[in-house]
Amino acid sequence: MEITRKTRLKDVIKTPSGHDIIARLLYSLGMDLDVIRKTPLGLLKIGSLKSLSMGKLNDRSIDALIALLGSLNDEEASESEGINETWWKEAVFYQVYPRSFKDSNSDGIGDIPGIIEKLDYIRSLGVDAIWCSPFFDSPNADNGYDIRDYREIMPEFGTLDDVKRLISECHIRGMKLIIDLVMNHTSDEHEWFRKALAGDPQYMDYYMWKDTPNNWTSFFAGSAWRYFSETDKYALHLFADKQIDLNWDNPQVRKEMYDIANFWLDLGADGFRLDVVSFISKKEGLPDGDPTIGKLISFTGIEHYFHGPHLDEYLREFNRECLAPHGAYTVGECPGNGIMMSRMITGNDREELSQLFSFDHIDNPGKKRFDLYDFDPSKMIPELVRWQTEYSDRCWPTLFFDNHDNPRMCSKIDPSGHYHGAVNKMLAMMLFTMRGTPYIYQGSEIGMTNCQFSDISEFRDIETLNVFEEMTGSGLSDSDVMKRILAGSRDHARIPMQWNSSENAGFSDTAPWIKVNPNHTSINVHDEELDTDSILNYYRKLIALRKQHKTLVYGSFKKLRSSKKILAYERADDERFLIIINLTPNEIRSSLKPLSRPLISNYSQPSRKLMPYEASVYMIS
Ligand code: NOJ
Repeated sequence: MEITRKTRLKDVIKTPSGHDIIARLLYSLGMDLDVIRKTPLGLLKIGSLKSLSMGKLNDRSIDALIALLGSLNDEEASESEGINETWWKEAVFYQVYPRSFKDSNSDGIGDIPGIIEKLDYIRSLGVDAIWCSPFFDSPNADNGYDIRDYREIMPEFGTLDDVKRLISECHIRGMKLIIDLVMNHTSDEHEWFRKALAGDPQYMDYYMWKDTPNNWTSFFAGSAWRYFSETDKYALHLFADKQIDLNWDNPQVRKEMYDIANFWLDLGADGFRLDVVSFISKKEGLPDGDPTIGKLISFTGIEHYFHGPHLDEYLREFNRECLAPHGAYTVGECPGNGIMMSRMITGNDREELSQLFSFDHIDNPGKKRFDLYDFDPSKMIPELVRWQTEYSDRCWPTLFFDNHDNPRMCSKIDPSGHYHGAVNKMLAMMLFTMRGTPYIYQGSEIGMTNCQFSDISEFRDIETLNVFEEMTGSGLSDSDVMKRILAGSRDHARIPMQWNSSENAGFSDTAPWIKVNPNHTSINVHDEELDTDSILNYYRKLIALRKQHKTLVYGSFKKLRSSKKILAYERADDERFLIIINLTPNEIRSSLKPLSRPLISNYSQPSRKLMPYEASVYMIS
């Protein structure tokens, strides 16, 4: 469909890209797509977004938007009949961040033998597959997401033999291992980049260069371009300036990546988590981005690469060359893709990826990670429900609240920790009773929280340090800067795993590379193992329930109530489950609450009211 200034909004949202981009812009403005779907505003022409956005979008941005909508692929996947049952739809995944999981050799840094030591623990939760964040050789500008050699292991983490052992020890326990492949960029210390800097034209064409930078900004603050005197050119880096973007339009680069992926699959890895894989294809000529649209979506320039012109083609090629021959699973990190464009990537007839991560529920509409605001869990519910109901049977959602890139969700909802047990169990209830594949991030199963860092010197993450520097120069007061850093830093999720109450939380017997949360004396695996009512044992109960009842995996999802206070839904096939959740710290009366006893609840005493953050699952006839 050709989109012009005269196209009505309700027609624009009929294509996958129109749907997702308009949804995304409205979301950033704190609005919902339903204003277009369900109110007369849908009859307005696309140009009227200017007034809907209350002046945030100007004429130039509207033109840029129209050009963007006209330039994206809009192939729809065909409807499949019913759900294909597959192991990964039934599986529970556990994400390990190796640097912070378990140190086996007393250097203060987690490592592969440390993970192996704890595999029985992970399995004891009922976990079927592990996603391990990168362990490849790296100068560590971004904790391993800057790879220097894709076939070697970071010495701090161990050896290739250790990784081979990790794979086989997972398999012995009936678990799969997926590894975290960073295909969008390499370290500037990678051999390919060093050869490029030496002027080898073959390797220069592995990366993206410009004589004069465009206006794209990096995810980690500042320009996305770094000048190299060796070539007298600027190289693109969407992330840290040591993470240089690869040129996926070069077939040789794609071949190198496929060889690397096959190397790991041949070693026995069961698949991949693909780092920012939706960014691999960039618009030809790398044109300037529209600053307004960029800011609304996230960063200037993003409209030219968040679902680039050849993304689907390259993913299909990757699938054909690597995944299909090995029967491998893949989950792609795809920030910015909405439901409809995600259907293009994960539809089961599309032969691209198995699943993807999308992040809109992680911050409230219109808010970003470093913003100061009180997170309202009820505001993430519409987004979660949409993925349950609109993503279609041919795609399968991922379910997660935590990962290594975000502060802990329990602390966002309940910063004081007053409802620590109830909130963590409430999140677990959603994780294991919604439709999709649950991903547990290390430590969520014991309710690990954000850490009270007291000074910038305690932070380690490059993004945090860059943002701190940028904010410090922006006129904000020191205390405001610190508040924002504390609100958004990824280091909250990267502090050591809390195994016990000893000095270094049982993570290491020497001082760890990053601060230990003082609350490890009360929040730790050892103590929770002994407490039948702990968050840890609650995770086990819910995972066991999910495994016992396939309805909680494949059953239909029906929303019964989604308000500022309550979420209630039903999962059904030949059995029926009702899940009812109080999203507030207040007691609430609700006629939805059955008189019968729940199968599992975060409150053991029966009550007619819904208790603060109560989350219960009932079997109904
Ligand atoms: C996403 C990863 O999850 C994050 O940790 C990393 O910094 C960026 N991609 C860049 O690789």
